Amino acid sequence: MQKIIWVINGPNLNKLGERQPELYGTQPLATIEQNCRHLCAEHNIGLEFHQTNHEGLLVDWVQTASEKAAALIINAAAYTHTSIALHDALKLVKVPIIEVHLSNIYQRETFRKESLISPCVNAVIAGFGGKGYTMAIRSLIEQIVNDKV
Ligand code: DQA
Repeated sequence: MQKIIWVINGPNLNKLGERQPELYGTQPLATIEQNCRHLCAEHNIGLEFHQTNHEGLLVDWVQTASEKAAALIINAAAYTHTSIALHDALKLVKVPIIEVHLSNIYQRETFRKESLISPCVNAVIAGFGGKGYTMAIRSLIEQIVNDKV
């Protein structure tokens, strides 16, 4: 059966391109999705790519991913810094998880320096803009193709 990587995006990431481009870049989320899709297709890996502004839906998707995904990438956006519900959901996931942020959250406001989800993930990629997603995909493909999952 084809392995699938899930990419889950949180609030306001649907506004990428127009939202603070000096921080988040000019690429719309659809372009980031396309780049991820091409990369996965080259390796015969499936991709589920989602965005929502709603915390509960993020939790639902994390739970679904824990059953269906070979690996998970999450940019929880502002919920990164607030959501115990997401922390708890991610704790249930057995497959590799990479937390991605477009910006370097450690270089920004104090309230962004803490991630409530980092303790539940295998790695964090922050500060590479949209490229961070494909970096995460490459790394996860290497892991799942080598059949560590
Ligand atoms: C973000 C960083 C968060 O602090 C912020 O709330 C976002 C985007 C990033 O990708 O850099 O919405 O997750």
